[in-house]
Amino acid sequence: MKRYFIHTFGCQMNVNDSLRMSEALSTMSYVPTPEPENADLIILNTCSIREKAEDKMLSALGRYRAVKASRGAILGVGGCVAQQEKDKLLKKVPYLDFVFGPDNIAKLPEVIRRVQEERERVVETAFVDSEEYVFPRADAETSRGKVTEFVTVMKGCDNVCSFCVVPHTRGREVSRAFPEVLLEVADLARVGLREVTLIGQNVNSYQGGISFAQLLLRTAEVPGIERVRFTTSHPHDLSDELIEAFRTQPKIAPHFHLPVQCGSDRILKMMRRDYTVVQYLERLEKLRAARPGIAITTDIIVGFPGETEEEFEMTLQLTEQVRYDNQFSFVYSPRPKTGAALREKDWGPVPHEVKVARLERLQKVQRRISGEYTQAQVGLDVEVMVEGRSRYDATKRFGRTPENRTVNFDGDAPAGSFVKVHIERATPNQLQGKQVAVLMEPTVAPPPVELTVPLHVPAEA
Ligand code: 5AD
Ligand code: SF4
Repeated sequence: MKRYFIHTFGCQMNVNDSLRMSEALSTMSYVPTPEPENADLIILNTCSIREKAEDKMLSALGRYRAVKASRGAILGVGGCVAQQEKDKLLKKVPYLDFVFGPDNIAKLPEVIRRVQEERERVVETAFVDSEEYVFPRADAETSRGKVTEFVTVMKGCDNVCSFCVVPHTRGREVSRAFPEVLLEVADLARVGLREVTLIGQNVNSYQGGISFAQLLLRTAEVPGIERVRFTTSHPHDLSDELIEAFRTQPKIAPHFHLPVQCGSDRILKMMRRDYTVVQYLERLEKLRAARPGIAITTDIIVGFPGETEEEFEMTLQLTEQVRYDNQFSFVYSPRPKTGAALREKDWGPVPHEVKVARLERLQKVQRRISGEYTQAQVGLDVEVMVEGRSRYDATKRFGRTPENRTVNFDGDAPAGSFVKVHIERATPNQLQGKQVAVLMEPTVAPPPVELTVPLHVPAEA
């Protein structure tokens, strides 16, 4: 038996792709190991959304080089950096054995065989951009013991946001036919999963035979499934039908991640986001009317080329006005071949210190608002779906509220249960409390060894 280790960077798409890699490797009698030092095969599943993410991958590669030297491990790079750099990566990193893109996961066994038997250095980065693309079908057994899982509904992105590398690394949009999605959800429900998150770079423009809103409604009706989530959305595709689904189907969890990117119409135009702040706010207002109390989160980029102090303050203002539950905010990072990177000189790059100072100001405001939301939960009883043992305190249990707030609590309900937790303390990022009632038992017997969650802490953040 040979052992493999996969280091995952980046978004849920990558987390999901790593699972598919594991499945492909299990067909060639590889078993996973949690320790890279004991691995015969190490794969880095990489992200290129920001330069920092790429730097992290390069420093990790440096560390794994020693494993290669000491025990002859094979070293491969997959994911978005692989897709972007292709054979250039083999030239840059002489000890690397293979490079493969996100559309080539099914070829992994063949790639490894060529490396081992033919002593080749392999590059497989062809895109499958059309409806011919076959989405890898998840093996539900890989997810047994978990409570929540991602299900791919589409890949790629047809938007043209000027800052974004994704269209270059993930190609054109291709949707997965809805019966396939529903079959996968049903398989997952059968092994005890209670929640699914439908994922894609731009799920609102889903075209797999029914609308995305209908797909959510049908997913919510799969027996055993209690919560349905999705990510990520583009504001310009947020339909009234989707908003209506939030009104009619309570199993669609009350959380919407709606990246706004910034609070200035001029910058939004340069970003080619295709909406104004007023239009964005109008969508949110409708959403909040359809599902009062819905948690709204967003992504923000500060220091986009040409962003003035006044324009940045508009982002602060928008943050105060919307009162986001949470924000993921980043300093602008020029990416190869993107519109904004090509025009950065003309538009006027924002100095690094200014970007960092703006980010700190924004994050301070958001921390205060997030703290106000979580403090307001203290003293209340909330519904929590139990996911397993807490990663941060082995004596506690971990779960999430419908709004996706994380809860670490004292209790004994097994993973897969729904419990009522009395909230006693809060920080801006998590709630703490104690279990006071069991609302729903798991649908299957809990595994002998429970998972420690959360499983994936994004490596590129
Ligand atoms: N620089 C900084 N942040 C970026 N994002 C995407 N591209 C860049 C970039 N070039 C952020 C956006 C997006 C999130 C996933 O990452 O906010 O919504
Ligand atoms: Fe995910 Fe985009 Fe990063 Fe690729 S570049 S891993 S799609 S966030």
